Amino acid sequence: MTKKFYLTTPIYYVNDKPHIGHAYTTILADVLSRFHRNLGDEVLFLTGLDEHGQKVLQAAQARNMTPQDHCDDLAPRFTQLWEKLEISNDDFIRTTQERHKKVVQAVLQMVYDKGDIYQSEYEGWYSVAEERFITETEKDSGEFRDVKLLKERNWFFKMSKYQQALIDHINAHPEYIQPEHRKNEILGFLRQPLTDLCISRPKSRMGWGIEIPFDNEYVTYVWFDALINYITAPGYLSDDKKFNYWWPASLHLIGKDILTTHSVYWSTMLFSLGLPLPKTIFAHGWWLIGDSKMSKSVGNVVNPLDLVDEFGVDPVRYFLMREMVPGQDASFTMDAFIKRYNSDLANDFGNLLNRVSGLIPKYFNAIVPAPGSFTAEDKVVINIAESLKDKVPALVENLKVSEAIEETMQLVRAVNKYMEQQAPWKLAKENLPVAGRVLYVASEALRITAVHLSAVMPAKTKIVLDVLGAQGSTVNWGELKPGTKLGIHDALFPRITLPPCGEG
Ligand code: ME8
Ligand code: MG
Repeated sequence: MTKKFYLTTPIYYVNDKPHIGHAYTTILADVLSRFHRNLGDEVLFLTGLDEHGQKVLQAAQARNMTPQDHCDDLAPRFTQLWEKLEISNDDFIRTTQERHKKVVQAVLQMVYDKGDIYQSEYEGWYSVAEERFITETEKDSGEFRDVKLLKERNWFFKMSKYQQALIDHINAHPEYIQPEHRKNEILGFLRQPLTDLCISRPKSRMGWGIEIPFDNEYVTYVWFDALINYITAPGYLSDDKKFNYWWPASLHLIGKDILTTHSVYWSTMLFSLGLPLPKTIFAHGWWLIGDSKMSKSVGNVVNPLDLVDEFGVDPVRYFLMREMVPGQDASFTMDAFIKRYNSDLANDFGNLLNRVSGLIPKYFNAIVPAPGSFTAEDKVVINIAESLKDKVPALVENLKVSEAIEETMQLVRAVNKYMEQQAPWKLAKENLPVAGRVLYVASEALRITAVHLSAVMPAKTKIVLDVLGAQGSTVNWGELKPGTKLGIHDALFPRITLPPCGEG
């Protein structure tokens, strides 16, 4: 049955070049998209850039550029990285695009006409250095410079009006906010009365944004602008047929830093618009560098391009997907990367391919042998492979990508063990048909492994499937055809030798 799957990543701030955290979310979304396409689902995969607001303006000023020039200059760093990382997004949205500005202004007008936006004088502690209102506690922390009491007229969105509706929705839809502990965090937050959301900035103070349609002295607050990207792209107010087809989104994939803005701001905005809420908001954890948070000021930011240039794109995708259990934090170290590469990719997966593509040419003229009838030992391997056909999609459906990979790698290890026990290289000299059967079973298991890993490592698994003459997908399982001529290949995952001192 064909299903629709519309998934999004956050749109990233264009204040700096992307790092491994941005790459992670985008790769995870890509892996989910590819899995769903393999299952025969129709996919809309959206990513993009958040180009308005204080942070971007400051970054532009620091480079002596206009904010638009700055955005135009940095945007290709994102799109080029996504190309390099084999990201298969269907659309790329930038909040400075005309299509988006129109929708944001129309939304503001609709919410205003409905009576959900009102004007009020706001008085609070304002940090001039940070260019934002701070709380009493923040002020007392002494960490903010240039703090003054500021009275400012602004526009507010009646978020509080939808508080109960949101609580009810979360309780009625346990899959709405995931993982579970994040849902509980948000329910806890909603036990306090919600305040309304200040959604404007006077142009005199911060002019880099979309003008409020009913007050030309103000631009809209960056979150009110950014969140709307999720409905702009599938055609809200511009292409009803497309929009009704894709909305509501199946999945907003985000990091835990922006859970409140998505589950509270965005949900209440959608309530006001009378639009259905997305099916799921999933917040993943942090990539830590060793034990500490990745941060520019600490100087421990990992650049995904450096890794890809050194080790290739598929191992980087594999490591990020295998190492982080979505929902929990994970630690990035070069040591862990190299160990994982050598054990899983060079030793287990690469070695299985080498055995198959070494022995079949040696003893069978590079033609896949016919298996004959299977023994109990063969069936152990075949059954593990069969069981993955249900297990892997079910795990991925629940975002358990790391577990799905581990299940698949268990098959690889089982086949390698089976090969050692059967020793087809010895059998070939005594009983060629038996050796052929073993090599058939191993090749077929390798093919199934490659199909399951194809969403994670599209390029390397394509090589394997090409060698086996067996491009396929999880929908059209097919089977390895005896009589197929094997192709040749270069070393798939050359072993990384550790420098003498350990850390690479
Ligand atoms: O918040 N580990 O953009 P942003 C894992 N523009 N993921 C990380 C990470 C880390 N150490 N660091 C960043 C914004 N991320 C807004 C979003 S959406 C309508 C607007 C990822 O550039 C993670 O997905 O600060 C996080 O949520 C996102 O980058 C924040 O990107
Ligand atoms: Mg951020």
